Amino acid sequence: MSILKLTDICKDYIQGKEPVRVLKNVCLEVEQGDYIAIMGPSGSGKSTLMNIIGCLDVPTSGEYVLDGKNLHDLKDDDLAEVRNKYIGFVFQSYYLMPKMDAVDNVALPLLYADVPLKERRERAAESLGVVGLEDRIHFLPNQMSGGQCQRVAIARAMVTKPALLLADEPTGALDTKSGAQVMDIFDKLSADGMTILMITHDPDIAKRAKKVYHILDGELLTTQTGGGEDEA
Ligand SMILES: Nc1ncnc2c1ncn2[C@@H]1O[C@H](COP(=O)(O)OP(=O)(O)OP(=O)(O)O)[C@@H](O)[C@H]1O
Ligand SMILES: [Mg+2]
Repeated sequence: MSILKLTDICKDYIQGKEPVRVLKNVCLEVEQGDYIAIMGPSGSGKSTLMNIIGCLDVPTSGEYVLDGKNLHDLKDDDLAEVRNKYIGFVFQSYYLMPKMDAVDNVALPLLYADVPLKERRERAAESLGVVGLEDRIHFLPNQMSGGQCQRVAIARAMVTKPALLLADEPTGALDTKSGAQVMDIFDKLSADGMTILMITHDPDIAKRAKKVYHILDGELLTTQTGGGEDEA
């Protein structure tokens, strides 16, 4: 079953006085359970595409259907609701709240979803268990390593049980070992049926995914390669 479908998505940004097209007629269909990596040079439009898929930004033109719903006419508040319901987002820099401990950081999306406090904490603790941080639930971000912070961010992304996990360079700020731990978690989530879309510069990371797409100068190339293959 298709969870999302993009048709002819374009995005223009005003640079100087002129609009510049940074996404050009992007078409992409993601099936439930897909594990996809998107690769491409710096400035090719990867984050722009991810932000549109994650409802953090809207396209200039084109159609985005998520879980059978056309997002075209949604206003900011409605988009925020869609994002909270369907999407878990992991960024290169973890964006944790510095004064909140791990469990409260992870519980935050549940606050926006009006879940009662006790259940929020229970579900957050459970989610931290999934990423192997059950012994760190009361640690503040500055008391954890980068890899641990990213695992907290993954637990936060997963706590709402989203339909789609998006990750923009999730290992970009991590050393090889912490990056591998993060990728092991992604692999496990994928094996459990999670739909994952991630951006990476790193061919070894992309190999973990089952499909790899390339984006070049705002165009998503239609040829898709399987993960695990060596690419020229
Ligand atoms: N808010 C903005 N205003 C104007 N131009 C923008 C804006 N955001 C991005 N761009 C431009 O859009 C293009 C694509 O940017 P994007 O961030 O999507 O690239 P990227 O592929 O994620 O690159 P990187 O690998 O460096 O993260 C770039 O040329 C960038 O300068
Ligand atoms: Mg980017």
